[in-house]
Amino acid sequence: MKDACELSATVTPENVDSILDKHIAENFDEERTRKASQQFRREGYVKVRDLVPDAVFEALQEETYRLIDQYEKRIDVTLPETSDSPRYMSTVSASAIAEDGVIIPAVYASESLKAALSRIAAEPVLDCPWDGEKYAILHQHKKGDTHGWHWGDFSYAIVWLIEAPDLKYGGALQCVPHTDWDKSNPRVMDYLLENPIRTYGNITRDLYFFRTDTTLHRTIPLSEDKTRIILNTTFAGERDLNKEVTHETMGAMFD
Ligand SMILES: [Fe+2]
Repeated sequence: MKDACELSATVTPENVDSILDKHIAENFDEERTRKASQQFRREGYVKVRDLVPDAVFEALQEETYRLIDQYEKRIDVTLPETSDSPRYMSTVSASAIAEDGVIIPAVYASESLKAALSRIAAEPVLDCPWDGEKYAILHQHKKGDTHGWHWGDFSYAIVWLIEAPDLKYGGALQCVPHTDWDKSNPRVMDYLLENPIRTYGNITRDLYFFRTDTTLHRTIPLSEDKTRIILNTTFAGERDLNKEVTHETMGAMFD
């Protein structure tokens, strides 16, 4: 095994798919996939830190910090489509990432990665049909920052924990799986009152595969000025390809 630093220098948009292919074949065998798939279908969430090598994660981290420096914008909004839950954070849009990112679009395009996700989801995991939601960087940094209760417009995401605070300061993920988003009547409080809420701690370098359209979720607000940065990559299921999707919440969060 090469160490991470040695490998880090070698990750390029051209070779990232073959690096992922080799790593997944060696580290994510049938037994690991079966366990991940069962948890994913049960909870809408599974941590898959071992799906990618350190070198690929480090390349994504480096690029994310660079894009934050150049493009991030502060948003402070509440959204009626999710029962007026808050979005207090800074963001980098998909268009900035598509224009100036190199490694993020290459990892997104990796067929090896999508093949592994498809095995976990037990159905085909496809590119998001809307460019505006393929990628996003979300940066929480002020006391009270939170990504309030919401669902996603498309079925799947990988969330990459570029940097996470000690969980005692907030930032943990909370989920209510197997719920449906009706934008004209989101019923967020009803779902919270009627269902158990599960809380997941994710630390720097974690990644999780997520069923975003049927998992009501949020992050616990930061209790101090601390840093939490995620890279979100959104994928679709076949069910998403023909449905009419409106993008109000994305429009409010990005350019
Ligand atoms: Fe989300």
